[in-house]
Amino acid sequence: MTDLTIAHSRAELAAARRKLTGTVGVTMTMGALHSGHAELIKRAREQVDHVIVTIFLNPLQFAQGEDLSRYPRTFEADVEICREFGAEVVFAPSPDVVYPDGEPGVRVSAGPLGDVLEGASRPGHFDGVLTVVAKLLHLVQPDRAFFGQKDAQQLLLIRRMVRDLDFPVEILPVPTVRQDDGLALSSRNTYLSPSDREVALSLSSALRAGGDMAVSGPAAIRRAARDVLVREPLAAVDYLVLVHPTTLEEVPEWYRGPALLAVAAKVGTTRLIDNLPLVVGPGGGARLVVDYAE
Ligand code: PAJ
Repeated sequence: MTDLTIAHSRAELAAARRKLTGTVGVTMTMGALHSGHAELIKRAREQVDHVIVTIFLNPLQFAQGEDLSRYPRTFEADVEICREFGAEVVFAPSPDVVYPDGEPGVRVSAGPLGDVLEGASRPGHFDGVLTVVAKLLHLVQPDRAFFGQKDAQQLLLIRRMVRDLDFPVEILPVPTVRQDDGLALSSRNTYLSPSDREVALSLSSALRAGGDMAVSGPAAIRRAARDVLVREPLAAVDYLVLVHPTTLEEVPEWYRGPALLAVAAKVGTTRLIDNLPLVVGPGGGARLVVDYAE
């Protein structure tokens, strides 16, 4: 097992980073690590010489009234997962290390793609995400950064930021890790009561049902997914959309090609999101990550 260095300050991170020769990968997290995060670390480990995990519960991406204060904090267990999956450095700064001058006046703007879907329900959320991701990329200086397909809009926006602002890093997507019954792993699943959890299964079931209709076209996909969700009135659906994977616009009925079937719903007091990348049309079906090849 490799040695693990825990860095809390910028100086500690810089010292640990300087010791790493060869390629470096980063996995950014907000803690409360689960098998989805572990998969990111594992993928990174396969593709780079050294893996750095950041654990930082970023206040900038939470709005007033969101779950920042009740977000699960499990630092000791998180470090063990990092160690087990072969990370060499954990960077776990406090907010005053990341934001020494308080809330930053200058921020990265997600632009119009940050105003739809998750951004419509969480104004400013993606500006907060991109600002911290930009800062952590500068501090860690990785060659590659690994992000989960689970947060498809976040992944897209990070790809756009890196491209639009010329960050010298490669962004790699990692497929969504699910439990055997289909539920996408999320730190927020710890909020779910056993009965909430049953209700939450309707999200992944709806996506699967939609994915099964991929060859038949957008209307059939949307109908199949919606039919599953309407049978579960306790899931308060925020959106269920079939969108183009790079514009996030609803695809028209004639559309054939890569798409994203995405859902957000409140179950009990918990807001859950899930998505399924797919290809619409002949030979189509569910995919593990979005196909950007077109
Ligand atoms: P967090 O929700 O902790 O997620 C950290 C990373 O793990 C993200 O890239 C996310 O997409 C990925 N992830 C979460 N659940 C997953 C699952 N079931 N399967 C695969 N990957 C999964 O996303 C954030 O933190 C923050 O916004 C962050 C990028 C760290 C910026 O603060």
